[in-house]
Amino acid sequence: AKQFRIAPSILSANFAKLGQEITDVITSGADIVHFDVMDNHYVPNLTIGPLVCEAIRPVTDAIIDVHLMVKPVDRIIPDFAKAGANIITFHPEASDHIDRTLSLVRDQGCKSGLVFNPGTSLSYLDYVMDKVDMILLMSVNPGFGGQKFIPGTLDKLREARKRIDAYTEKTGREIWLEIDGGVNVANIAAIAEAGADTFVAGSAVFGAAKDTDPNRYNTIIASL
Ligand code: DX5
Ligand code: ZN
Repeated sequence: AKQFRIAPSILSANFAKLGQEITDVITSGADIVHFDVMDNHYVPNLTIGPLVCEAIRPVTDAIIDVHLMVKPVDRIIPDFAKAGANIITFHPEASDHIDRTLSLVRDQGCKSGLVFNPGTSLSYLDYVMDKVDMILLMSVNPGFGGQKFIPGTLDKLREARKRIDAYTEKTGREIWLEIDGGVNVANIAAIAEAGADTFVAGSAVFGAAKDTDPNRYNTIIASL
């Protein structure tokens, strides 16, 4: 059976209690911490950097999945690797040399991945599959949590799934397919059916419960 992973985006967490929020989502059954890095340049919003990654690293053993929405991208990669990131993904449009950036991520000891905006072609994958550990499809335009899932992403997921399956068949190597933006309880089954195995969810997870019970995210994570 296919393995599915839930990756809460801490963008929608309570930043005044970030460590507790992370402990609570992982205790409640989440698999991955999705870490959104925005630079007010590549995307029109400004969030968190390596310092915050370093601060949360001792809080959890879970995979930290750093989604870089920054330009330029290369110079910040070693800082995130040192801060304890496990996966680092970036947008091909933000890198001048995609093959080099993918290598840089792996040389720093992390899993590497490419992120595709809704309008970005999967053809960026044509010559670099060997250097990709995760493909992340954006189902919203990057920059903000709480946006609506763009339905056309389902066909794109099917296309990405085909590429991955053909590649895995040939090489025996697995590549994860992650979806990011507007994922919720109502649409996650269709998204899984279209081929995603790793699901980012920000507002759906952190918006779900307002009390302080450490298991308050159980229900939402279980129903995703
Ligand atoms: C958007 C970010 C997403 C976002 C997801 O640019 O990459 O990770 O926080 O949030 P929701 O699940 O609320 O769309
Ligand atoms: Zn993200």
